[in-house]
Amino acid sequence: MAPALRRRDVIAGGGLVAVGGILVACGGGDSASEDTASAEAAPSPSQTPDASTPEAAPSSAEETKVDDGEGAEEAASQEAVDGLASVDEIPVEGGVVISDPPVVLVQPTSGDFQGFSAVCPHQGCLVSSVESNEILCPCHGSLFSATDGSVITGPASEGLPAVPVEVQGNSVVLA
Ligand code: FES
Repeated sequence: MAPALRRRDVIAGGGLVAVGGILVACGGGDSASEDTASAEAAPSPSQTPDASTPEAAPSSAEETKVDDGEGAEEAASQEAVDGLASVDEIPVEGGVVISDPPVVLVQPTSGDFQGFSAVCPHQGCLVSSVESNEILCPCHGSLFSATDGSVITGPASEGLPAVPVEVQGNSVVLA
């Protein structure tokens, strides 16, 4: 559950470090560009202004970020840590695809959060995105309804099975 979010954050963070490494490698002899590259590569916490703790591990940064959004309710923050995603990450008529567990979280109308399997029933690809209440499988272009998971456009012949979810605090969790 939450590890998927952390994995995504770690992947994004790794990309920033990789870019920083490339900038350092390409810096050549120009001392000004080396200084700039080093400044970009070293303080990755500056990429996440909410995680102002200097030596915070990614998990601590995530917890801090969630806590800031919900206030002082410790129980709520614990639920947020265990959640699949923050409600703020799921736009109306859009959604978030989580790979582990494979769930796509959607909000077809304001305040209505739903979950569906993110595994396409056609040949098992992971769906990739949600726009205008349509869930896209990138492999062969199947589209599914974000309101009920049904097939809008094949080749998939079956819809996405529902995954029961509920909102707890600021998080969407498995029901
Ligand atoms: Fe999704 Fe083919 S696997 S459309």
